[in-house]
Amino acid sequence: AATRYYTFNVKLQNVTRLCNTRAIPMVNGKFPGPKIVTREGDRVVVKVVNSIKDNITIHWHGVRQMQTGWSDGPAYVTQCPIQTGQSYVYNFTIAGQRGTLFWHAHVSWMRSTLYGPIVILPRAGLPCPFPKPHKDVPIIFGEWFNADPEAIIAQALQTGGGPNVSDAFTINGLPGPLYNCSTKDTFRLKVRPGETYLLRLINAALNDELFFSIANHTLTVVDVDASYVKPFDTDVVLITPGQTTNVLLRAKPDEGCPPATHLMLARPYATGRPGTFDNTTVAAVLEYAPPGHIKSHPLFRPSLPVLNDTAFATSFAAKLRSLASPDYPANVPRRVDKPFFFTVGLGTTPCPGNQTCQGPTNTTKFTAAMNNVSFDMPTTALLQAHYSANSAGVYTADFPAVPLEPFNYTGTPPNNTNVSNGTKVAVLPYNASVEGGVQDTSILGAESHPLHLHGFDFFVVGQGTGNYDPSKHPAEFNLVDPVQRNTVGVPAGGWVAIRFFADNPGVWFMHCHLEVHTSWGLKMAWVVNDGPLPEQKLMPPPSDLPKC
Ligand code: C2O
Repeated sequence: AATRYYTFNVKLQNVTRLCNTRAIPMVNGKFPGPKIVTREGDRVVVKVVNSIKDNITIHWHGVRQMQTGWSDGPAYVTQCPIQTGQSYVYNFTIAGQRGTLFWHAHVSWMRSTLYGPIVILPRAGLPCPFPKPHKDVPIIFGEWFNADPEAIIAQALQTGGGPNVSDAFTINGLPGPLYNCSTKDTFRLKVRPGETYLLRLINAALNDELFFSIANHTLTVVDVDASYVKPFDTDVVLITPGQTTNVLLRAKPDEGCPPATHLMLARPYATGRPGTFDNTTVAAVLEYAPPGHIKSHPLFRPSLPVLNDTAFATSFAAKLRSLASPDYPANVPRRVDKPFFFTVGLGTTPCPGNQTCQGPTNTTKFTAAMNNVSFDMPTTALLQAHYSANSAGVYTADFPAVPLEPFNYTGTPPNNTNVSNGTKVAVLPYNASVEGGVQDTSILGAESHPLHLHGFDFFVVGQGTGNYDPSKHPAEFNLVDPVQRNTVGVPAGGWVAIRFFADNPGVWFMHCHLEVHTSWGLKMAWVVNDGPLPEQKLMPPPSDLPKC
């Protein structure tokens, strides 16, 4: 196995989008940031140098970080942020994963511009379950804000209201021709007739799940979140923030002369409160370019599901099955040591003092919670407190295993969501098998939540609409070939159930990957204790670990 060295220099640099110029944080002068290319089994070493005023950390989203929790990256969970003028070396090994992941900043809303692909090639010599593509191309979705996202979220948290939505979606940093003055800022994918391309779809957007489609081309889904799936064909892919999806695109063998241009479009799947989402559309271009053809026409547009097409979302999710082959078995937990039942959703808390707030009413502000607990970030890193066995004043080990308030989705939602604040974690013995039934509460309108778990891949053993019933649904779980991933869309007005083995010691964040919901408190952390053997223990902290 090889070691891959990178240096990430974080600096401000001017970027113009939608005729609006803004200095944004970027890595090595690139937006989106540089691509990490590695192979399963390799070690990756990235020195991150912070040359901007704001604090930063980088998270290697989906990388399992076995025993290397210090390199995971969420601020105040596994490390204190890298302050201006400081650096930190992330050092981890890629094990048991192949496909696409991504990296992004993990403090406040800094990930709005600090993100890039992680390409994980399969271990040399291992069979790949699909034919080798002619080329592979990252397609990374993002959101562009004309204003500074840090100011947007700071203001929203202060007033208790919803933050302004983005001004455009982007593909590989570019908004495309459907936006104002952006025709020249269009991503173009040139393909050759008859060849197969592997598109590495990454949703790095802050707050929106996206539908994606290419006119006149069927896509074959082969891998999600760096785990192979049973291949299936689809015209549209649904991808939540935090998810990655590898699809094969077969260029038509006989495109004709002159060849056509096919648009690729992405726009939101948004079930929630109308008006609180950016519902614009990003376009990129797929063009056939045999030598000699400069202009491609005519132009075709794909049709995408409507904004709230939950039926499509449900059927797409149901098609995802892990490969579960002899080469790539699905190690689904069959026993359950630690059953959890989570409610996830938005709520309200009273506006403090005599202030007027801009929440759902002017006496309330928005909050978000899991099991009625809205998570408060500590001012020092949870992992350091855990490692030094000194949690006093940092966290409490009383995260509830069931919702604190009775809950009935099909009935009238409770008026009082009884959210309390706290820095509560759930402690797990090494290698416990964990089950989580996760219920969307839909208290402020049915809304789906892309729930992301750090440090593990989980199996999505069940999903449904209405109420999760822990006494009934587990008997129906798929324990044969459930999809394995790190981020799952908890359906609007429904539930999912996940299982994983807690075989990675450390402190692991779990949160909604809609950044606004994370900011409002839809997050918690697991503390996984060391096992008895040396390879079951968290490594000691590196000497350059940043201080708070
Ligand atoms: Cu991609 Cu905790 O996040």
